[in-house]
Amino acid sequence: MPVTPLRYGIVGTGLMGREHLRILSLIPEVEAVAICDPHSASIEEALKITPGADTYADFSDFLNRDDLDVVVVATPNHTHADIVTALVQKGPHLLIEKPMATTIQDAKTLHSLLSDYQSLAWIGMEYRYAPPVAQAIERSDSGEIGTLRMLSIREHRYPFLPKIDDWNRFNKNTGGTLVEKCCHFFDLMRHILKSEPTQIFASGAIDVNHLNETYDEGKPDIIDNALVIVDFESGARASLDLCMFAEQSTDQTEIHFVGDAGKIECRQPANSVTIGLRHEGWENWAVGAFRDSERLRTDYIDIATDISHGHGGATFHEHQAFLTAIQQSQRPSVSSLDGLMAVLMGAAAEISIRQNRVVHMSELTDY
Ligand SMILES: NC(=O)c1ccc[n+]([C@@H]2O[C@H](COP(=O)([O-])OP(=O)(O)OC[C@H]3O[C@@H](n4cnc5c(N)ncnc54)[C@H](O)[C@@H]3O)[C@@H](O)[C@H]2O)c1
Repeated sequence: MPVTPLRYGIVGTGLMGREHLRILSLIPEVEAVAICDPHSASIEEALKITPGADTYADFSDFLNRDDLDVVVVATPNHTHADIVTALVQKGPHLLIEKPMATTIQDAKTLHSLLSDYQSLAWIGMEYRYAPPVAQAIERSDSGEIGTLRMLSIREHRYPFLPKIDDWNRFNKNTGGTLVEKCCHFFDLMRHILKSEPTQIFASGAIDVNHLNETYDEGKPDIIDNALVIVDFESGARASLDLCMFAEQSTDQTEIHFVGDAGKIECRQPANSVTIGLRHEGWENWAVGAFRDSERLRTDYIDIATDISHGHGGATFHEHQAFLTAIQQSQRPSVSSLDGLMAVLMGAAAEISIRQNRVVHMSELTDY
């Protein structure tokens, strides 16, 4: 007997909303039936992907629908809190784009609302699902490189793209670059190290990008480069090296996991995972054999073309995991606590830059 597809609604059909729609169109068990966006050009573009969907310019009209099993929230960051709060009254399963919220207070309020929500509430930390990252995490979790001591993440990329109404040029709309963009990396740190952060120190500024741009609201205030150091309860330490004027990088993202028994290197878009295991003793280092090809292996991961344009396959695998959790009544793999912690870590790093000091995570309970 044919199974009725789950009915999805998408709020916000800009760049990311349309990526969700493209990926959903590849999954037979789901159907995007309703889309909501006040910006007519965004709706028109979305209709090219899902021609049959009902359209709403006004979120309150969209909210009147009672037949949606799932809603994906892909609106600008500062609108998530109000939109999610309204949706919770209706009860659909929710896939909420990152960051969960732009302020510490809103993130805390949403977490208390979502932590005992009866339907699934899942935060869109999709970098976990990029195939090379997922494989590197699996290898690390297997214990192959021993106990993790250090984790370093480098993102050297192109500047922020233009967005509808230029919302992403201002901290008040995004939460700040270290919340907006880097919540992904802070989430990866906790997810990989399986430990909670204790303190954060960051240095950063707006040095190159957007300096000549002016909007009605003034000049952009989002930083474009930062170095962040995070200490964890386990004793492990992590770093983030973010540069948004480095589009000529060989790889946009590199993640280096270092354990006491070896190292994993993960690169995107090379989509490679390299594992190197250490020698038992020190003798070989003494004679200068610093690397041993016998113990160093690189795998290149093939990503199907139709899913590769959704953040290198991450969006497809995120949706598959989300759908499985709905079908099997599982708890979310990326919970509102994960969403909250990613916002708190980004906010702590932004505070550290502004106040030029170490920020203890325990301080954020007072914000
Ligand atoms: N997971 C990822 O890696 C990733 C990548 C890009 C963006 N995002 C997130 O996705 C969200 C959207 O970003 P984007 O790049 O698509 O921005 P965008 O500017 O391209 O699109 C946002 C859309 O939301 C619409 N919108 C604004 N207010 C709305 C409201 N109240 N109701 C309905 N629609 C509304 C806008 O008109 C616009 O069409 C953001 O939270 C962003 O951080 C996530």
